[in-house]
Amino acid sequence: MDDTCRIVSSPSKMHKIAQQWTLTEQSIGVVATMGCLHKGHLSLIEEARKRTQKTVVSIFVNPLQFGQNEDLDTYPKPFERDLELCKKAGVDVIFHPKAVDLYPSSFQTKVDGGLLTKKYCGRTRPGHFNGVLTAVHILFELMKPTLAFFGEKDFQQSFLIKQMCRDLRLPTEILTMPIIREANGLAMSSRNTYLCPEQQETAACLFHAILSVQNAVKNGYTKTSELLSLTASLINHTPGMQLDYAHFVDLKTLLPLGDNINTSARLLLAAYIGDNPRVRLIDNGLISV
Ligand code: PAF
Repeated sequence: MDDTCRIVSSPSKMHKIAQQWTLTEQSIGVVATMGCLHKGHLSLIEEARKRTQKTVVSIFVNPLQFGQNEDLDTYPKPFERDLELCKKAGVDVIFHPKAVDLYPSSFQTKVDGGLLTKKYCGRTRPGHFNGVLTAVHILFELMKPTLAFFGEKDFQQSFLIKQMCRDLRLPTEILTMPIIREANGLAMSSRNTYLCPEQQETAACLFHAILSVQNAVKNGYTKTSELLSLTASLINHTPGMQLDYAHFVDLKTLLPLGDNINTSARLLLAAYIGDNPRVRLIDNGLISV
């Protein structure tokens, strides 16, 4: 595969390159990441390569989406490894700006995704989603991608990015790709690098809880309260795990379901594992009735 992969750090240079591509009618696919790439990211890059003529991977650990006690400073940054992976995958440009390039000291404006940014992960991480939306909006304005690719693991994030594109009439179409899992079912995530091998086994209980709920629903159990108790007990009874939240949400609105599951829904989960560091993991699965 062609391994000419340019690294661009200047936003105005990135803008010029993307503008040139657009002028010459070459479609642009963007995979926005915070680096520490894994097979989930690679599946997004592969899809971008199939569907668009130029592929940009942005690698930017976005300070706006981290809370005060979160892992901004320790977030893994294996840039050389990411670069090799991008080269092998046929990425045209890695956009790798510095925080000060995207957020100069005069920076003030933020995107606010409203009600849904405060639910689920947003309850535990106040301000997180508005930080994500602000960064993604800047990336989209710089590159005006034809398509942008996000993983379903961050289900709430993808929903909010689609909402932003609709509300603000952004021309980019958002495509979401299925969760890529380890052999034991653990959803791939850059934060899995914080887990020791034993914890990586334990953490697969999130996936097993989703499977159990899917099974229970298939067997006719549709009361949300009972299914959520089952989820909580499966996770909280796994040594070392502590549930943050579990919710069934409507696929069209992302609002919590009522008493019964009578239409397909998504089960969203977050849980903590370990003490030092205490790592928060998320997962989700489709619940079909
Ligand atoms: O999912 C991520 O890696 C980040 O939230 C994103 C979309 C790159 C925005 O910083």
